Amino acid sequence: MSLIAPSILNSDFLELGNTIKMINESQADWVHLDVMDGSFVPNISFGIPIVEAAKKITKKTLDAHLMIVNPEKYIEGFRKAGADLINIHYEACKNKDLASILQEIKSLGARPAIAINPDTPVEAIYEYTEYIDMVLVMSVFPGFGGQKFIEDTYGRIQTLKQFFIKNNMNTLIQVDGGVSPQNAKKLKDSGADVMVVGSVIFKSDDPLQTISELKSIVS
Ligand code: DX5
Ligand code: ZN
Repeated sequence: MSLIAPSILNSDFLELGNTIKMINESQADWVHLDVMDGSFVPNISFGIPIVEAAKKITKKTLDAHLMIVNPEKYIEGFRKAGADLINIHYEACKNKDLASILQEIKSLGARPAIAINPDTPVEAIYEYTEYIDMVLVMSVFPGFGGQKFIEDTYGRIQTLKQFFIKNNMNTLIQVDGGVSPQNAKKLKDSGADVMVVGSVIFKSDDPLQTISELKSIVS
């Protein structure tokens, strides 16, 4: 069974408390928090205070997806705010010691993950697998919700899955961007363990029901 992680990015921020409460009552497994700095991506969303506020009203796993430059500066802040997983972008750490940033995330008590953009070869993360609990395979270019799913993603997930099976690793594979009831089953069959879903849930008339529908598709 795959996990469902609603992304609140495209929800109504005036209703954030009610949104988190809805997720609490739903069959969703995690809450996915998209942090954007206007530099790594062309959009600005929210930061540490929102993670802290969400933590106060949920026991669900908080999954912080940091689409920011210099993520190492903020890891401690996100952890203190309550992030259970901290996802940093491979592309934001090109000239940095990525292994030690991942080790720092772990030493702070969070689960480390590497996110990769659609144009980064999946093989780029192979040398870091001992430091991570999860790989986030972006199925759109990061920055905005509501974009069209990139079809290559199935093959990228399959390649990673085969690599993890061959090496006896239980590293999770997460997919993020354009995930819907139409592609969730194929993503699960390709090897996705965690599905991030944003606009399909929050633009639907009944988000609770949409989460149930997604959950039953990947069960
Ligand atoms: C995109 C974000 C995603 C996004 C997903 O940069 O990382 O988490 O909110 O939203 P949908 O499901 O609308 O593509
Ligand atoms: Zn995300």
